Amino acid sequence: MKLIITKQEVERKVKWLAGQISRDFAGREVLLVGVLKGAFIFMADLARRMKTPVKVDFVCLASYGSGTRSSGRVKITKDLETSVRGKNVLIVEDIIDTGITAQYLFHRLRSRRPRSLRTVALLDKPGRRRVSFRADYVGFTIEDHFVVGYGLDCNEEYRNLPGIYVVK
Ligand code: IMP
Ligand code: MG
Repeated sequence: MKLIITKQEVERKVKWLAGQISRDFAGREVLLVGVLKGAFIFMADLARRMKTPVKVDFVCLASYGSGTRSSGRVKITKDLETSVRGKNVLIVEDIIDTGITAQYLFHRLRSRRPRSLRTVALLDKPGRRRVSFRADYVGFTIEDHFVVGYGLDCNEEYRNLPGIYVVK
């Protein structure tokens, strides 16, 4: 495996993202919606850096089976426990790859009438898009490589690595 983003670079970026988001929401409460499992570490660090009041909830979506290839299908395997209606909602994603997962979740949540709905993704692989989707906040734009670490896995392994690595 090859290190492409160090722990320190991730920390700096998460702090920067939290600063941008906090400024945009200007003291208003934000409901962070983490997409399990990949976003769990990013979400925990982002939440701690936020300067506005936050609440947290999680969804679990499955779009990948095992391995490194997308099935192209999405299902909610665990839904939110809180209502998003009238709230400022921020979807927290680990990575946007084909865009299918993020687009699906965005449309599902929008239909529940939040006050606002935005997306933050730590990583973005625009070269892999199969549907057009743009996150409002992106940490790092990367090449078309399968990456692990900082929450991202390959067959459930490597989520605990502090940096981001390309699997060779
Ligand atoms: P998408 O629907 O193709 O955009 O895929 C989104 C989900 O696939 C992400 O939330 C990840 O869980 C997973 N995924 C996509 N690319 C990678 C990768 O390079 N490493 C690990 N997981 C990935
Ligand atoms: Mg994921």
